[in-house]
Amino acid sequence: MSRGLFITLEGMDGAGKTTHLEWLQHHLAARGLPLVVTREPGGTALGEALRQLLLDSHEPRQPDTEALLMFAARREHIATVIAPALAAGKWVLCDRFTDATYAYQSGGSGMDWERVAVLENWVQGGLQPDLTLYFDLEPEVGRARTRQARAPDRFEREQIDFYRRVRAAYLRRAHEYPERIRVIDAARTLAEIQAELENIMIKY
Ligand code: TYD
Repeated sequence: MSRGLFITLEGMDGAGKTTHLEWLQHHLAARGLPLVVTREPGGTALGEALRQLLLDSHEPRQPDTEALLMFAARREHIATVIAPALAAGKWVLCDRFTDATYAYQSGGSGMDWERVAVLENWVQGGLQPDLTLYFDLEPEVGRARTRQARAPDRFEREQIDFYRRVRAAYLRRAHEYPERIRVIDAARTLAEIQAELENIMIKY
């Protein structure tokens, strides 16, 4: 049996990632593909517990500590959910993955970039997403959108400068991995973005 495809979605808060993930899920299911949809932090009982701890707490933390917790959850997620699904020929659609750690803990919070790389190698071995869809948006636009949608979580309360650095880190990753990471301009209409997604997915 051939290995399934590992797709991750990334984006600035307010970029519409959740809407696009649902659309993609339906699009792929309509093609009859066996799908596993999951998220990070989360995806396992341990991961969801860590997610709650990470997203709901108001206390400041060391970015290194945050990254270690993200990668602890990720290790469990890979071993018990992602790798088995891929091995069984299923496609895995994951809402955020390691690019988010580079973007938020390193870009946003200042953790050393190379340290993230060490943890990435340690936790993932050779496993990398086959395709990453990064929904790119100016931080100002993203914040305006999320504010109206719902109360911000801990990460979303961070300042605009933080989001500028997050975005710069995502774009750096996209520059380093142009084959894997597709930068999608999320400022456009839903119809335009869906047309682009459809076009990208034709190849897979
Ligand atoms: P998200 O999944 O978009 O949740 P929501 O739709 O409820 O906003 O984002 C969860 C938050 O977790 C987001 O602000 C980014 C953060 N995050 C990190 O800081 N590092 C990571 O490695 C991951 C996976 C997420």
